[in-house]
Amino acid sequence: MIRKGGSNWVDGDRFFDRVVELDALEERVREGTHTLLTAQRRMGKTSLVRELLRRLAESGEFDTVFVDLEAAMDPADAVAEIGVQARPLGGAWDRIKGSFANVLREAGDRFEELAVADMRVRLRAGIDAGNWPQRGDAIFSALASDDKPVVLAVDELPILVSRLLKDGTGIVTTQGRQSADEFLSWLRRNGQTHRRQVTMLLSGSVGLEPLLEQAGLSAHANIYSAYDLRPWSEDTAAACLAELAGTYGIGLPPEVGEDMCRRLRCCIPHHVQMFFDKLHEHLRHEGRRNATTDDGERVYLHEMLSVRGQADLQHYEGRLQTVLGKSGYPVALEILSATAVEGRLERDTLELYPVHFAAQEEVGAPSVEGVLHVLEHDGYLEREGGGYRFVSGLLEDWWRGRYGANFEPAIERERGMGR
Ligand SMILES: Nc1ncnc2c1ncn2[C@@H]1O[C@H](COP(=O)(O)OP(=O)(O)OP(=O)(O)O)[C@@H](O)[C@H]1O
Ligand SMILES: [Mg+2]
Repeated sequence: MIRKGGSNWVDGDRFFDRVVELDALEERVREGTHTLLTAQRRMGKTSLVRELLRRLAESGEFDTVFVDLEAAMDPADAVAEIGVQARPLGGAWDRIKGSFANVLREAGDRFEELAVADMRVRLRAGIDAGNWPQRGDAIFSALASDDKPVVLAVDELPILVSRLLKDGTGIVTTQGRQSADEFLSWLRRNGQTHRRQVTMLLSGSVGLEPLLEQAGLSAHANIYSAYDLRPWSEDTAAACLAELAGTYGIGLPPEVGEDMCRRLRCCIPHHVQMFFDKLHEHLRHEGRRNATTDDGERVYLHEMLSVRGQADLQHYEGRLQTVLGKSGYPVALEILSATAVEGRLERDTLELYPVHFAAQEEVGAPSVEGVLHVLEHDGYLEREGGGYRFVSGLLEDWWRGRYGANFEPAIERERGMGR
């Protein structure tokens, strides 16, 4: 009896399927393989990691630490976050507190009574731009000394790396590259030193590899073995819809579920959940319990594609702005809008972009090719023939709805100006 997922990560009785993925990741953890989890946005990366950690902890064989670096502005913040998230670990936590004894003395016995946010602030106060590597090493050593092997999940690492690399306009700077290099070297060194005692599982809502490639730091990803999380198959998505329908007492004939999946084209778990939730609301509103294909269509067109339904799109845009910066984002906007309006992006059009966006050649700004690489890596577009098309039908429809109406292709604008 699975319950609705909402939009935050899910585990336990809200978590559906992913049996193969959980097995594969568990095997990697048991073999001490550090993993980099990659997937398109909203695919369920965080949920998969949370559920894996829940199961591993439940087995009693592992201790688990989950760290989210979304709010970390620099390596010192990241180190404080790893430290504070180790607090359920008993022995390791005592050692961490020991290594911060001088800064924690003032709080004394009351430290344990502090809220997590306050603990983080206290730890952070003992870490600065000079000593973060030593502080971080001490935390890793503490984790490695735990009486069980530790699984350290680090979510949103690419967001921090992107922050380190780039200035306000999204340009990779020499200084930024150096900071990212230092931080990733430190993480890699600890991953190697404590292999087997501490297994790392990295994930993020934007891809790490395109970022590292852009900065010439790809070697840092060597110790992580990539694992690509795929969308649900239509069968799995349909089974999830059927189970949700069962839980909430909705009559959902198989052909209705299948039609819903077909509209999405790519069954990203979050979109499947959203579709069910909106269908449920719609039926409730109409005072009915049984869904028809017409209901599916109406909900898709009027709810999923409505302005309210598009709220999620802002999340996509925000993340793209984060990875691509002020200089790369307009290129992505142009490429995605052209692809949505035309249904696909032809090679001829693609070949004209580098000339059009010649200003992108500014040092450190992502090239047209770099932007395309991000869009492909992060699952927005896929190659088809010589060109590209949207992977997800929903995202394509969203993009067209939002940017399609007034869209005038850059290439056309140029021709117009030359006239
Ligand atoms: N295994 C699953 N079972 C049921 N629902 C899921 C599952 N995985 C993901 N979802 C749905 O997708 C939503 C997003 O999941 P999650 O936050 O884990 O994705 P993510 O890939 O980490 O997203 P982001 O790219 O934003 O970081 C959840 O709120 C839930 O509705
Ligand atoms: Mg996530």
